[in-house]
Order: sequence, then C-alpha cells, then structure tokens
Amino acid sequence: MDLYDALPYGTKPSRATHPDRAFAVARLHGVDPGDVGSARVLELGCGTGLNLLPMAAALPHAELVGVDTSAVQIGMGRAHVEALGLTNLTLDALDLREAPAGPFDLVVAHGLWSWVPPDVQEAVFDTVKRVLAPQGVAFVSWNALPGWRVRGTVRDLLRRHVAPDTPPRAQLHAARELLSLWVASEPSDPFAELVRQEAVRLAGKGDDTLFHDYLAPHNEPVYLDTFRARAKAGGLALLGEAELQTAPEGPLVDGCLDRALAGDVLTGRAFHRSLLCHEGQGNAFQPEALGELWLRGRVVAMGQDASGSFAFGRGGEPRLTTQNPQLASALAAMSGPGALRFGDLAAMVQGEGAELLRLMSACVLHGFVEPLARAPGAAMQLGPLPQAWAPARHLAEEGSPWVPSLHHEPIAVDGFDRALLVALDGACDQGTLVARLAAGGHGVATVPERLLAMVEAGLFVDGV
Ligand SMILES: C[S@@+](CC[C@H](N)C(=O)[O-])C[C@H]1O[C@@H](n2cnc3c(N)ncnc32)[C@H](O)[C@@H]1O
Repeated sequence: MDLYDALPYGTKPSRATHPDRAFAVARLHGVDPGDVGSARVLELGCGTGLNLLPMAAALPHAELVGVDTSAVQIGMGRAHVEALGLTNLTLDALDLREAPAGPFDLVVAHGLWSWVPPDVQEAVFDTVKRVLAPQGVAFVSWNALPGWRVRGTVRDLLRRHVAPDTPPRAQLHAARELLSLWVASEPSDPFAELVRQEAVRLAGKGDDTLFHDYLAPHNEPVYLDTFRARAKAGGLALLGEAELQTAPEGPLVDGCLDRALAGDVLTGRAFHRSLLCHEGQGNAFQPEALGELWLRGRVVAMGQDASGSFAFGRGGEPRLTTQNPQLASALAAMSGPGALRFGDLAAMVQGEGAELLRLMSACVLHGFVEPLARAPGAAMQLGPLPQAWAPARHLAEEGSPWVPSLHHEPIAVDGFDRALLVALDGACDQGTLVARLAAGGHGVATVPERLLAMVEAGLFVDGV
C-alpha cells in the first residue's frame, strides 16, 4: 500500500511557493515568469493539495494543477476543491512523470526531492525541464548537508529501532518510546546532547513528519554543490533561494571556492527552498528590479535607541537601525499588514532615492522586507458586514487546527477562532455577530482582539 495513503501528510500553504513571491524573487534575478493573476502553476507531489487550494482561491484567473501518486490524498484535496466550488484547480492521482505538458510559469516540488529515490529525483528535474515555460521558474525544496547530518543521525537510529515491515502506527509507537527516553536523558557528551536536542525537536512534531521524514525508506540530504550539479545535468540552473537571505561573512566563507556552500556550513542549514530556471537564464540579484515590485515589511518599528537611531525588529528583538528619519518613516509605513510599491516609498523620501534603493536591497536580502509581484489581497480593516476569506471559513468548518491566510501562511486557530470564522459570513455586523456567538454559549469578551488579530493575519479579502 502507498505509505501516504496509509498516513496522509499534513500539507499546508507554504509562503515561498506562491507566485506572488516566487515571481518577485525571479524578477530580482532577471527572469520574468509573467503575470501572477493569469499564472499557470503545477505542483509535483502536491499531497492533499492544501498548498494549491488557497492559491487557486486567491487567483481566480490562474490555472493550477497538482499531481500526486497517493490517491487517498488527492481524494481529500478534491473534496476541498468541490466544497469551495473552485474551477481553476485540478488535482490528479498521477506519477510526476505523467504530469501534463504545460507550459507552466511556475512548477512547485515542495518536500518531494529528498523524499524520493534517486531515479525519481532525476525525473523531478526532467519533468520541470519538460513543462516549464521558457521564462518560467521552479521551486524545489530539499534537505541539505551538513545541517541535516544531526537529523540524519536520529533518523538512522530510529530506523534501526523500529520493525520496518510493521504498519506505520506500530513504527510510530516504537519511535516515540525511544524519543521519550532520549528526551529524558542527561548526556554529558556534546554529541549525545546534540542528538537529545534533535529528539526534543522531533518529539513535538506530528506523526506525519515523524513517519515520512524519519521512518520512511527514502530521505536523502545532499550538499549544495551536488544539488546544483544534478539540476544542471537536467538542464536547469539554480537562480537563488526563494526566501532571500544573505550568507554569513568571514574568513571561512571568503576562503571557500563555493561561498554559498560555506554559508550552509556556518549556519548549520538543514533545508533549502531553491528557485530554478532553464539553463542560460537568470542573473545575480538586480536591485533596480525592486522598482517594479511591492514591498511588505517583516519588521516593526521599535522607537529610537540610546544613540538616537530608529530601531526595527521582530519578536521584540531589534534587528535593524537607521539614523535617517525619512528612511525610518518609509520602513515604518511598511510595518503594517499591507505592502507598498517602491515608488510610493521613494515619494516619501524625496531626494534620498538612491539611499532608499540601497537600504531596501539590504532589507530584502536580509529577509526584513518581502518582495511581492502584486499587492497583497488582504484587507487592512474590517468592513461593516465582515466576511472571512472562503478557504479560511471552509477549513474552520472542517475543524482544522490552522486556516490559510491571504499571505499564503497557515494561521493557528483554536475552537473559538473557528466558531468566529464560521460566523463571519458577511451577513451580520459586529454587534449581531457577538450576540449570535453569545447565544451559542461562547464567552465573547475577546472578540474585538481576535478580529483584529485575524485582520493582521490576512483573513479578510480587500474590498469584500
Ligand atoms: C513529504 S510529502 C510532501 C507533500 C506536499 N508537497 C507537502 O509539502 O506537504 C511527499 C509527497 O510526494 C508524493 N510523491 C512521491 N513520489 C511521487 C511521484 N513519483 N509522483 C508524484 N508524487 C509523488 C507523495 O505521495 C507525497 O504526497
């Protein structure tokens, strides 16, 4: 039996696979896959289709196709497509080698490449090469060495411990027993402590991750230069990382022939989200391309520090400072849930355009600002008759522990959030909504702050 039929994977929306982001990063590297609104997207190994589902709902004029060998997962995905009445998303129980010819502007293979044997890895590149439009971009994620080495050690030990021919549930039970022994251990040896820390991380993961990433037959991490060479053998070139970030600097990096690989070593990186294009396409990062993009802040203003610099940060930690008040106000303007065009920011900092470009390039390269090919579709405030985004309401109705946002992120929800989302049907104002929830036995004191959090998370469509 197909192992994913026996134990489906918990597929969720993955931000960096959305054409809004992938096309923006591609443009910054000299590849223009075209208009996001009418994009043709193929996902190989799409699981239950829950990455494609919110994309299809957000892009009604795009055409999306997902293929996966697990008929059970495809059946689960089709039920969601039908419930939402989406006509632009097709899910097919097919091997990736039988994927339709396209051409596709974006091909996604997330959580697939390292999870399949070498011949299928080669087939992933062959399929991408065959179906990708001339200016298209592909997203392929994979497990990286040397960072995956510690995870791989735990995987090896777990696989030696469980009986491989027993059903997944029995293997999970045996694996969790061993993990709990490691978690409770108090190693004095640094290597054993690394293994314990990995066991702690893994013990908190769901059964789908534990089984398919750590117990299933295939999981091959590779070094960056190996991945690059295999992609090249398939006629594809590595364009860059879908989540932009600057590699660390220092003598080791400077002294290495492959600086990106040295970066993986210094950061212990275990996972890559790579963007690929046809060989012969693409350039190094081109800051001027920011002029055509939308920019969304991923840091918030934290006031002025002791030296008078304006600080910006994430999770309460300052990450970035500037002494230029105009640049600070441009950064602050991007701190909300929305996004601004580079031109709008340039208008705010008259005469400082070159400095703004330099600062925004650095922010984009460090992941402080996210480049987008289109304006985000999320509302910045609630309308008089608030209606939550259809995919979020649908998954709330299904009892899901998360719902998709218009920023293509999974947002964790509890039982009350779900009741609230279901009630947000566009038929009543906030007062009526609160009364309805109270009549249903819910304590409603937190409704205003939950609604605010939902707006900030991007659960309402702009203009609805
Ligand atoms: C680890 S899961 C990832 C699923 C999904 N992409 C995600 O990120 O949640 C790997 C998926 O690849 C699918 N798969 C494996 N080999 C395949 C093949 N040859 N053709 C199509 N799908 C395949 C599996 O059925 C499974 O759904």
